Amino acid sequence: MEHARHVFRALLVLVVALTVFILGRGFLVPKSYGLYGPYRADNVAEQARIRAPRHGGPESCAPCHAKQATERAAGSHKTVSCEVCHAPLSVHVVDGVVKAKMPLDRSYTLCARCHRKIAGRPEKFPQVVLDQHVPVAVEGDVCLQCHNPHSPKP
Ligand code: HEC
Ligand code: HEC
Ligand code: HEC
Ligand code: HEC
Repeated sequence: MEHARHVFRALLVLVVALTVFILGRGFLVPKSYGLYGPYRADNVAEQARIRAPRHGGPESCAPCHAKQATERAAGSHKTVSCEVCHAPLSVHVVDGVVKAKMPLDRSYTLCARCHRKIAGRPEKFPQVVLDQHVPVAVEGDVCLQCHNPHSPKP
């Protein structure tokens, strides 16, 4: 019986340590931690408040570029966002005011990124073998000679 007291003391130390750990953790771990995953969920909303969004979506271009917006909405690029081919809105417009020129890529490589024939693409996706499709050298802005990027069906 005498030796059991040692065990009891060790157990007591353990229980006290565990209680301190559980209480301490409750105080130190932020409330929203673990709500969706191993991170503080409130941080998402906090970051969204302090950082201005970079992209505006196609609707953000339409008030100033009605012609391109109308063409795109009616053609087969209606699912391709303006900012995919150009650049994020924030590069060009800040608080509704034009701050810098929007980059413009006229190279065939822009189109080839999505339309070059590759075995891995879904078969139904429109794709071309570049040097068989184009009757001249595949270089520069050759694709734009026959296709309007905002309404590409010739
Ligand atoms: C507040 C009005 C406004 C908004 C919003 C706006 N633009 Fe523009 N954009 C302009 C003006 C003005 C010019 C002409 C500037 C120039 O030629 O220097 C221009 C020029 C351009 C050009 C031509 C650049 C060149 O080198 O000729 C492109 C491409 C363009 N914008 C794309 C976009 C896209 C894509 C969006 C949406 C993400 C957008 N713009 C949103 C006003 C706007
Ligand atoms: C598939 C890629 C692509 C998409 C999507 C796209 N553009 Fe363009 N855009 C281009 C290219 C390439 C040019 C250069 C055309 C030329 O020089 O003939 C251009 C030119 C422009 C210009 C300069 C004037 C002109 O028409 O040549 C403006 C403004 C513009 N785009 C705005 C937009 C807006 C707004 C959207 C969305 C509604 C959009 N673009 C979607 C590729 C694209
Ligand atoms: C970000 C990817 C992307 C880029 C870049 C892109 N396209 Fe497209 N393109 C698409 C999608 C998506 C479609 C619609 C496909 C569908 O309807 O299944 C499409 C449709 C087309 C079609 C119509 C095919 C048809 O039968 O209706 C042509 C032509 C075309 N694109 C040419 C071009 C040209 C030229 C360029 C360069 C100026 C270009 N595309 C840049 C994604 C892209
Ligand atoms: C000499 C004119 C011409 C040039 C240059 C040209 N195209 Fe085309 N393209 C056409 C015509 C016409 C069609 C529609 C008939 C067809 O399907 O062959 C077409 C169709 C397409 C299609 C749809 C194919 C499908 O299966 O529905 C894509 C994608 C395309 N072109 C991409 C491009 C790209 C990318 C470039 C630049 C490398 C380019 N084109 C250059 C004339 C041209």
